[in-house]
Amino acid sequence: MSNETAHAKFITTALLPKDYPTIRSKSGKILPEVAVVGRSNVGKSSLLNHLFQAKNLVKTSSTPGKTQALNFFSFNDEIAFADLPGYGYAKVPQATKKQWGPMMRSYLESRESLKVILFLLDIRRIPNEEDQKLMDWIAYQEKAVILVLTKGDKVNQSEQKANTDKIVNEFTAANLHHVLYSVPKSRGRKELLAMMREAIRDESQ
Ligand code: GTP
Ligand code: MG
Repeated sequence: MSNETAHAKFITTALLPKDYPTIRSKSGKILPEVAVVGRSNVGKSSLLNHLFQAKNLVKTSSTPGKTQALNFFSFNDEIAFADLPGYGYAKVPQATKKQWGPMMRSYLESRESLKVILFLLDIRRIPNEEDQKLMDWIAYQEKAVILVLTKGDKVNQSEQKANTDKIVNEFTAANLHHVLYSVPKSRGRKELLAMMREAIRDESQ
């Protein structure tokens, strides 16, 4: 693991744009924001805890559908993070499912400080139609996207390579950066931090 120190802070939970926080650095600048998206149970909240080197700052669960609203965090006086609710979990109540699309849409369309989207996919699964639809829609927003292949510890080395190729090839978006992540193996953190910083720099130019 990177020995870079991490100071992460929970800011707030919100559903509607009017309740989104303005997250500033100590010097008063609005922090560039990174959003974490992906299907339910893919490992969004776990990845944030690992990035933050925190045990339970971000709520995770073995029950999918844990995160139902947007949760905002700040990291090292440098980056804001939004942990977004997952999609695709059958047992989530119908009313909640209906909220998901509009909630994602209003966040992704209105959040001016949003610079980078982390699109998480389980390394063991080929992206399905829902994943494709979300990716197409994100690509249309012209934000930087990083594919994060999660649960890298669940496959062996040759599967890692084969599955990564298969998944990345499912998407037509040009210049799609990707990184393999594993929380228990503490893999991917340093690379992902570097990739996010580079994307933020590019977006701010
Ligand atoms: P929702 O909030 O329901 O959308 O899910 P989420 O995407 O936030 O997933 P969460 O982080 O809650 O993790 C779901 C499950 O996957 C938990 O049981 C985690 O412990 C497990 N998990 C997350 N990351 C990894 C990983 O890198 N390796 C393994 N083996 N398990 C992981
Ligand atoms: Mg979650």
